[in-house]
Amino acid sequence: MNSQELINKYIDFFKQKGHTLIPNVSLIPEHDPSVLFTTAGMHPLVPFLLGQKHPGGKRLVSNQRCIRTTDIKEVGDAWHNTFFEMLGNWSLGDYFKEDTIKWAYEFLTSPQWLNINTEKLSVTVFAGDEDAPRDEQAAEIWQETGIPKERIYFLPKSENWWGPAGKIGPCGPDTEIFYDTGQKKCSSECKPGCSCGKNCEIWNLVFMQYDKTSTGEYKELKQKNIDTGMGVERTLAILEGYENSYQTELFKPIMDLIEEKLSGRSQDYREVSTSPEKAKKIIADHIKAATFILMDGITPSNLDQGYVLRRLIRRATLQAKLLEIEKKENVSQQVANIVIDIYKERYPNLLDKKEFILKELGKEEDRFELCLAKGLKVFGKIIDKNRKKISGQDAFHLYDTYGFPIELTQDLARDDIKIDREGFNKEFKEHQKLSRKGAAKKFKGGLADHTEATTKLHTATHLLHQALRQILGDHVEQKGSNINPERLRFDFTHQEKLSPEQLEQVEQIVNEQIQKALPVKMEEMTVEQAKEKGAIGLFEEKYGDKVKVYSINDFSCEICGGPHVKNIKELGEFKIKKEGSGSSGVRRIKAILI
Ligand code: SER
Repeated sequence: MNSQELINKYIDFFKQKGHTLIPNVSLIPEHDPSVLFTTAGMHPLVPFLLGQKHPGGKRLVSNQRCIRTTDIKEVGDAWHNTFFEMLGNWSLGDYFKEDTIKWAYEFLTSPQWLNINTEKLSVTVFAGDEDAPRDEQAAEIWQETGIPKERIYFLPKSENWWGPAGKIGPCGPDTEIFYDTGQKKCSSECKPGCSCGKNCEIWNLVFMQYDKTSTGEYKELKQKNIDTGMGVERTLAILEGYENSYQTELFKPIMDLIEEKLSGRSQDYREVSTSPEKAKKIIADHIKAATFILMDGITPSNLDQGYVLRRLIRRATLQAKLLEIEKKENVSQQVANIVIDIYKERYPNLLDKKEFILKELGKEEDRFELCLAKGLKVFGKIIDKNRKKISGQDAFHLYDTYGFPIELTQDLARDDIKIDREGFNKEFKEHQKLSRKGAAKKFKGGLADHTEATTKLHTATHLLHQALRQILGDHVEQKGSNINPERLRFDFTHQEKLSPEQLEQVEQIVNEQIQKALPVKMEEMTVEQAKEKGAIGLFEEKYGDKVKVYSINDFSCEICGGPHVKNIKELGEFKIKKEGSGSSGVRRIKAILI
């Protein structure tokens, strides 16, 4: 079976059970400001899990791309990946435990579907604590369905509870389904839930019945939901009898490429502290994740998602260095090329963004090379200062300013110098907190503010976007925007600084349009129709079939959630205040209306 067949089977199965297929959306969450990335299929559904009506109904199914960096240290083992695809089915206040468990069992074991040997399966259920009772009910249903008592394990919250994805939100006890790979137990204690890889978790069924509030309380949700997640890479691997996800068609061509680069080479690299096997997997995993994050429009930076992207590319580049793959071989670009080839049918956007993805990877590798030399000097000074210990602050300084992942510092320090990892983690967490706050603020700014001044600036942003395309070319694409009642800020793709003449021309075009006193027309249509109409803007598929398209005569036509003015004469006069660089390859304009 290949990955597309597995995905199709899952979707067909749940369609037969009355589910509606929902789109595979961006890795950058739109509805959940508490996280930087879509880490599970449930993210795009948060408002609906909390009670909002979903246009697709109460039963939904999807295949969702995800990024999860909480397990980044595990990457390199058999089963952990930072990028993966997750199949999921949801009940929004409809069916609950019984149907969920029975259908999962049917899909896994029925000869018509995956035909997995039931004896290979075991499950874990929630053991209960002060927040919620022991899940005897789930265990009973499993037993009735076909999993014998001795293969049902009760585990604590750390293992059998899901969510909330951020600090607050929908969550609940879960039951996890494991496949026995046939490997030896790592110890006599080894059982499902042990991280050695013998039992591979393939599907998690969450009984989402609580909302964790900001005070730490677990409040019963009025609407009880089901949220399930099946890992595509893992399930494919076990169906094909592989030992890990790197042997599947979703990784194999990448691993072959890296192997090819190493063949016939001296074995010196085997002395590095990361094992070569692990290093290869890290390169494959991280560059795949980076390719998809780039596809979704993020560029490497020191903030938010851009920071994670940078870290992934640098960790991969570092591993390539440790394996002595030369910089000139452009390993990240070569890997990305293969990733694009593997996924191009499921994600045609990869082809549209190919040039951008490869360019950004190359640039980030170059930057890291520069930092590496400077950072090594600083590292030398730190060691001269104290030959026994590297403080958390110093380690973080190397990480933050010179782009040294902590593993690199660790490698350089070898065994005789201690690194204050705790101090490093503290600094790191502090940084993440700031970065999350930034993300939360951005989210609010976009959705909550419908004041008159802000509304005008939203419309002005459309005029600006189109004027930039006229002056600079059609490569100009929106990369972000932030609007408050005082000013608009617009980020867009363009390599060079704008000249004063160009800025003047842009301003002039916008003001000419305003003087034409044109009405702003809103129409709802499908994404396809919007594309046909030539609309620009962020073409992420939204829930439901319809998107809003705002047009200003034939000057501007853009997909957008609004709000906008009725007639552009309301805008007054448009003035650019500042032009500068955002992240690399992205320019930023701040402008006002007077
Ligand atoms: N949210 C759960 C998970 O990510 C099930 O989808 O495991």
